Amino acid sequence: MYRASPFLISVSLLLSLPLLFLLAPRILPPLFPLPDPISPADELDDLSLLRRASSASSSLTRLSSSSSHHKIAFLFLTNSDLHFSPLWHRFFHNRPRSLFNLYIHADPSANVSLPPPGSVFHGRLIPSKRTSRASPTLISATRRLLATALLDDPANAYFAVLSQYCVPLHSFDYVYRSLFVSPTFDRSAPAAESAQHGVRLSYRSFIEALDKSPSLWKRYTARGRYAMLPEVPFEKFRVGSQFFTLTRRHALVVIRDRSLWKKFKLPCYREDSCYPEEHYFPTLLSMEDPRGLTRYTLTAVNWTGTVNGHPHTYGPREVSPELIQRLRASNHSESYLFARKFSPDCLEPLMKIANKSIFRD
Ligand SMILES: *[C@@H]1O[C@H](CO)[C@@H](O)[C@H](O)[C@H]1NC(C)=O
Ligand SMILES: *[C@@H]1O[C@H](CO)[C@@H](O)[C@H](O)[C@H]1NC(C)=O
Ligand SMILES: *[C@@H]1O[C@H](CO)[C@@H](O)[C@H](O)[C@H]1NC(C)=O
Ligand SMILES: *[C@@H]1O[C@H](CO)[C@@H](O)[C@H](O)[C@H]1NC(C)=O
Repeated sequence: MYRASPFLISVSLLLSLPLLFLLAPRILPPLFPLPDPISPADELDDLSLLRRASSASSSLTRLSSSSSHHKIAFLFLTNSDLHFSPLWHRFFHNRPRSLFNLYIHADPSANVSLPPPGSVFHGRLIPSKRTSRASPTLISATRRLLATALLDDPANAYFAVLSQYCVPLHSFDYVYRSLFVSPTFDRSAPAAESAQHGVRLSYRSFIEALDKSPSLWKRYTARGRYAMLPEVPFEKFRVGSQFFTLTRRHALVVIRDRSLWKKFKLPCYREDSCYPEEHYFPTLLSMEDPRGLTRYTLTAVNWTGTVNGHPHTYGPREVSPELIQRLRASNHSESYLFARKFSPDCLEPLMKIANKSIFRD
């Protein structure tokens, strides 16, 4: 009987190690229970919505530029109650509906109780599907919101994605002026492009698109070493917050994309590197229109002491007028407009300081 020497065994084991790493994604079960993949029925359903929004918009984009009022579409993405709806209600209070629209995507499995009649959020739920972390379902939900808002109103000109943990840092009028009117709000804009005679010339999307991050390679290979090729070479892979504000032009780019979605909808093998919603949008838009992006977000977030991919969550005792001031401070624009994350029990202290701090600009 042939008996391999212990030396030979260890050498061959050593030699096969790299091979194992190379093949592991193909032959080993994934390291975490994969969320259910998006079903073909859901995918078809979405595709039909995206197609309708895309073809309707091509004939309507001209119309929107001639309308005197541009609207902001506020897109709320939630898997729980909208904890701060009374605060948002105050934010929108008495503002004409000719300036904004609201849309809510709520995970149907989360039994979300929606704001009652009388609230600005009432009746604003769009047909929604299940969402979960570490899966591409958050991309689908965001595309559903964008497509619905594009279809719904040709005057929707900016599309701001928010969650149930987001709060406003300013009045509605300040937010509106900053996006559409102010020639000085965006400090990153090349002076020649931003304004002439005090009139805004260019409208860019406020979205982070970073090409440097310690975990970028791990996240790029989360579906396997070569899984993103050839559509997305590593040099084109970007990261940024999923809470962005897009122009109508870029919202259309997003709902018309098929080729990157084909890659980003693949399941990951590693849960700790799987945040497709933080990569899909910045990667796609940097590839399509790098000059049209500010590369920063309008939603302040505190990553100090991050746990498990979650940022610092502010509790009720941290809420104060000074916190609002600190959260507004941005190096990229005159101010952040929104902030996250706040725990639900922050509602009461936030309502107390709303008139005097948050909505006073
Ligand atoms: C959903 O919430 C309602 C009201 O909060 C409650 O009555 C109902 O039992 C809940 N359903 C489930 C499936 O949790
Ligand atoms: C960010 O969070 C840390 C705790 O993780 C806190 O000490 C700090 O004050 C926060 N920063 C701001 C600007 O709120
Ligand atoms: C602005 O930039 C400075 C210098 O890089 C940094 O120390 C500071 O923390 C930044 N402030 C904010 C609000 O990001
Ligand atoms: C804040 O302002 C609103 C609208 O002007 C008013 O209805 C509300 O009573 C005020 N709340 C507080 C706490 O001052």
